[in-house]
Amino acid sequence: MIFTSNSPTETEQTGYQFAEKLYTGGIRKAFIAMKGEMGVGKTAFTRGFASYFGIKSVKSPTYTIVNEYGSDKVKIYHFDMYRIESEDDLYSIGFYDYIDTDSYCIAEWSENILEFCPDLEYFTVSIRCVPDDEEKRIIEISYPQD
Ligand SMILES: Nc1ncnc2c1ncn2[C@@H]1O[C@H](COP(=O)(O)OP(=O)(O)OP(=O)(O)O)[C@@H](O)[C@H]1O
Ligand SMILES: [Mg+2]
Repeated sequence: MIFTSNSPTETEQTGYQFAEKLYTGGIRKAFIAMKGEMGVGKTAFTRGFASYFGIKSVKSPTYTIVNEYGSDKVKIYHFDMYRIESEDDLYSIGFYDYIDTDSYCIAEWSENILEFCPDLEYFTVSIRCVPDDEEKRIIEISYPQD
């Protein structure tokens, strides 16, 4: 599925709609691998995703590595893998425990970690910029690794 976004709000809306689709489709546990350059809108998409569940406080997990959110409906674990370099790093943040839980795990900079979890099935959300249009983004969502 490919979406076009013309503003941060539209990127959030795409995240919201994706959450709605998963939740109403009965998918209550998923790993979402976010891909895309710095500042492309990965956190914005995640903010919209969480807002479907009434969670309004999503902040970038840059310093914390993982932020945890909960509502009456779900748990969301939001990772920033920018500084993760090894399987040991993943163990030390408790990554393998998180992905075992019934939750949505959303990982920014997933490019850094997918090689350390070969059996993981995941949705890919890839966001990219468009030349000469500062606010435009192409958002591609795919499952599993196709
Ligand atoms: N269509 C758009 N969608 C999302 N963000 C946009 C868009 N147009 C402009 N922006 C701007 O791009 C920035 C996106 O920031 P965001 O923190 O979501 O990016 P990120 O991919 O998570 O970055 P990082 O890799 O540093 O975590 C914001 O400043 C936002 O205002
Ligand atoms: Mg971010």
